[in-house]
Amino acid sequence: MSWYFDSHAHYDSRRFREDQQQVLAQMEPNHVRRIMNVGCDLASSYTSIALAEQYDFIYAAVGSHPDDAANVDEARVEEYRQLARHPRVRAIGEIGLDYYYEDVPRAKQQEAFRMQMALAQELSMPVIIHQRDAYEDALKIVDEFPAVRGVFHCFSGSLEYAKEVVKRGYYMGFTGVITFKNARKAVEVAQWAPLNRLLIETDCPYMAPEPFRGKRCDSTMLPRMAEKIAGLRGLSTEEIAKITRENAMELFGVDAP
Ligand code: NI
Repeated sequence: MSWYFDSHAHYDSRRFREDQQQVLAQMEPNHVRRIMNVGCDLASSYTSIALAEQYDFIYAAVGSHPDDAANVDEARVEEYRQLARHPRVRAIGEIGLDYYYEDVPRAKQQEAFRMQMALAQELSMPVIIHQRDAYEDALKIVDEFPAVRGVFHCFSGSLEYAKEVVKRGYYMGFTGVITFKNARKAVEVAQWAPLNRLLIETDCPYMAPEPFRGKRCDSTMLPRMAEKIAGLRGLSTEEIAKITRENAMELFGVDAP
């Protein structure tokens, strides 16, 4: 039986406020049996846990995205430490660096990233990393925590960068971007990537794959990513669904349905 694990979603987004229940009711009939809902700040970390309590197929990650780095201090980390004790919390994330938008000064982003990597290390939990235009600095901080593993979500790097990520034992998450016509780099990486390092994700409500590009994304679109990667690797969509769900279950310590 083929089923899918969406390794990165944001159902707490206001873009699901009107119809969140109806959308989530479509998961089972569309063979989406596991979803990692990822926090971006304190409020969405709480909401992720609430969703995981409400739906047995949803798991939660807690943490502050680089956009929220200004709010990360010892007290905030302590709150995440408490939240991470919840049995449905399986990762710290999303954390990282974003030098593209740079809403928060780089030094503060780095500090917040380090503090949350240290928390993941202390709790022996995986991390979900957001990295945009901060390639070298992200690897530098990752290298300070060699015991931590995780995923570079919405992978956007070159083949050379992918090799650095894989060398460190991290996974790479592919979104709908892989289906875009101009996705040369992501395609190159997905063609090369060791199968045991591959994850698929929607990052919904963002990043809808073709032919839904520009629309609100949800996890029922995940088979498009699997199909695309299957084509690149000469495997069946079912095989990619299986490989990526087993990788996600292994990374997040989540059981099969
Ligand atoms: Ni995200």
